[in-house]
Amino acid sequence: MASSVCLLLRRRLFSSLAAAAVSHHSHPPLTFSDTWAPAIVSHLSPATADETLFHLSLNLSSHPSLPARHLSPGQFLPLRLPSCSSSSPPLLLSIASPPHLARLHSHFDLLVKRVPGSLSDALCGMTEGDLVEVGDVMGNGFQIPDAHQDVAVLLMFATGSGISPIRSLIESGFNQNKKAQVRLYYGARNLDRMAYQDRFKYWESSGVKVIPVLSRPDESWSGARGYVQTTFLREKQIPRPSSTGAVLCGHRHMTQEITSILLAKGVSKEKILTNF
Ligand SMILES: *[C@@H]1O[C@H](CO)[C@@H](O)[C@H](O)[C@H]1NC(C)=O
Repeated sequence: MASSVCLLLRRRLFSSLAAAAVSHHSHPPLTFSDTWAPAIVSHLSPATADETLFHLSLNLSSHPSLPARHLSPGQFLPLRLPSCSSSSPPLLLSIASPPHLARLHSHFDLLVKRVPGSLSDALCGMTEGDLVEVGDVMGNGFQIPDAHQDVAVLLMFATGSGISPIRSLIESGFNQNKKAQVRLYYGARNLDRMAYQDRFKYWESSGVKVIPVLSRPDESWSGARGYVQTTFLREKQIPRPSSTGAVLCGHRHMTQEITSILLAKGVSKEKILTNF
């Protein structure tokens, strides 16, 4: 199993590198650390009814210096399977748990999108107690305090597994004093594809208004329908664009459209954050 997965991934890396060269991709090249730490799978379960997303929790108590480098929401963790050779590209997962869980308990929660025949597929088939390997925490994360010091309204937009860094942000307690009014527009095909529904009450209690938006809901759905960007576009103008900030995570199409809508409504570019 493992070696064919590795081979497949290697082929995908080459084809995505080729695609990147053609499309003048603006991302900086990814360089992974060459030190890998073993991590215990402490929890693994489906995160959605259709089992396209999985909750994965890792225990890194044997390597506390690594979780100590999870400093802000929006950072990434590279993950690979011990059975795969080091030439295979690792999975790069957005950390879903808030930084204090890493600092205090050496604990990471991740949301894994299960892609048949890929490393993620093999990962989602593991059992609790199994070992994976993780590399150093990557990225700067959302620099909320810098970009959003004077923000009175914070708009969050997520689709699919893009909710993962948003969960980290909400649960990091960034808005503890409830200074900012926070709204989360969260898009998925239907409720069977929407992770973290059991946390909405908790998020609301911490001052986040959650607006689920379903593109193909069943008939009983009375909430917002369509895409996150169409739902947001239908809403009234932003009253104070100069003190409005935004955080965007998810499909490129969504993040691009929301960015142009926000700019058109007068939100400044520096206050629109993404985690990649
Ligand atoms: C993490 O793993 C260690 C063993 O390496 C164990 O002692 C500890 O109880 C585990 N922590 C949790 C929260 O499961």
